[in-house]
Amino acid sequence: MDLEGLLGAVRQQFRPYEKSFPDFAELPRKGVAQSEVLALLRRFQRAEEGRWKEGYVSGAVYHGRDGHTRFSTRAYALASLSNPLHPDVWPSLVKMEGEIVAMTSHMLGGGPSTRGALTSGGTESILMAMKAYRDWAREKRGITDPEVVLPASAHVAFDKACHYFGLRPRIVPLGPDFSADVEAVKEAISPNTVAVVGSAPCFPYGVMDDIRGMSEIAHDKGVGFHADACLGGFLLPWARSLGYPVPDFDLRLPGVTSISVDPHKYGYTPKGISVVLYSDPELLHKQYYVAKRWPGGIYFSTSMAGSRPGGLIAAAWATMLSLGEEGYRTMAARILGSAKKMRAGIGERSGVTLMGKSHFVAAFTTKPQDVYQVMEHLARRGWFLNGLQNPPGVHLAVTVRHVARSVRERFLKDLDWALLEAARPSAPSGLAPIYGLAEALPEEAVGEFFESVIDWIYHGD
Ligand SMILES: Cc1ncc(COP(=O)(O)O)c(C=O)c1O
Repeated sequence: MDLEGLLGAVRQQFRPYEKSFPDFAELPRKGVAQSEVLALLRRFQRAEEGRWKEGYVSGAVYHGRDGHTRFSTRAYALASLSNPLHPDVWPSLVKMEGEIVAMTSHMLGGGPSTRGALTSGGTESILMAMKAYRDWAREKRGITDPEVVLPASAHVAFDKACHYFGLRPRIVPLGPDFSADVEAVKEAISPNTVAVVGSAPCFPYGVMDDIRGMSEIAHDKGVGFHADACLGGFLLPWARSLGYPVPDFDLRLPGVTSISVDPHKYGYTPKGISVVLYSDPELLHKQYYVAKRWPGGIYFSTSMAGSRPGGLIAAAWATMLSLGEEGYRTMAARILGSAKKMRAGIGERSGVTLMGKSHFVAAFTTKPQDVYQVMEHLARRGWFLNGLQNPPGVHLAVTVRHVARSVRERFLKDLDWALLEAARPSAPSGLAPIYGLAEALPEEAVGEFFESVIDWIYHGD
């Protein structure tokens, strides 16, 4: 592999402004005029907005229509200085936060004892739930060597939680349909298991795990079950009401003891808001933090963060109120209808195989072409897709940005071109070798390699 070439490609992709924008490595001695600063921001916006606006990006921006964005930005502005760390100063945030949690709980089958909290995103919701299970099991079951049963497709945030909180991940394989192997889940549960995890649906393939089956097993064994609906939680209820086959996945199932769901994805709010819900208030208490002896005073927080952006809570609350059930159902109908056509179009290309069934994600692999080369050629045509590994693949999560027919037609045309290009003999190029590398090297070496790539991205050396 040509390391120089690879780092050059990384530089081009992640540090494109090195020559074309002024550098600010230290505070300017005299402040830059606000108009000039805003002009710089507009230049960034102009350089980047077209990618996601014109549907070239998988997931990432889930709505993004101008009127919608303007409305949530105005709501943000009205509360931009507020902070729920001071509920006495901003009790309006207590009300809004409580209502976001309550509306989400209602949507996902929560009952009178369901409790929840807001976090900064799916990852933090998952971190909090895993910490809650660890602490609860230590107190109630005396478990000091806690384990979590994770299907291989569970979001990486669960691994991160294990890493941060001293939990052992017990990774179980997927079945041929890319959903968790329920028998393997059952076998992986041990006396040290504090929680079992299932996805509704998972990030890589958009495939639903058998949440009913797995949560029943967890329930029978007396362990917690976390349903990760970060991606699907704001689409699936409306998909079901539109007649799509959606198996039970939420708090209506007695074995589901917690669920994470992200307003900042298909809830169409600005980034920075997720909800974690628990069927038992005692579990939520295990995510709270209360400091009693600190000279700075009595201090409590409901999640990892201390200060939090009240503006984002206001923007999320405003978005959810203004869309209402009808708004969410309408958007879901458009997204699901487009995803169906997109998947059909992709699936009928020769050499392309869809990976698993999904209502709104199209994950696929190619043969004989190397799928990472196909992805690289699509990148040359402007597409930002997600590369998958173990096994190799690529995915497109369909959002409001993809509902126009012209976007679908453009993608399929570019896919045809990429398939032809990737069939020609050529050396791997662009960022494609990174995926091959991650699969070929030992985990430790991949870790070290990526540490230097991250340094390269953020520090340029
Ligand atoms: C299924 C699933 N869970 C969790 C997450 C993590 O969410 P976030 O990126 O908001 O931390 C994602 C993100 O795409 C996801 O798809």
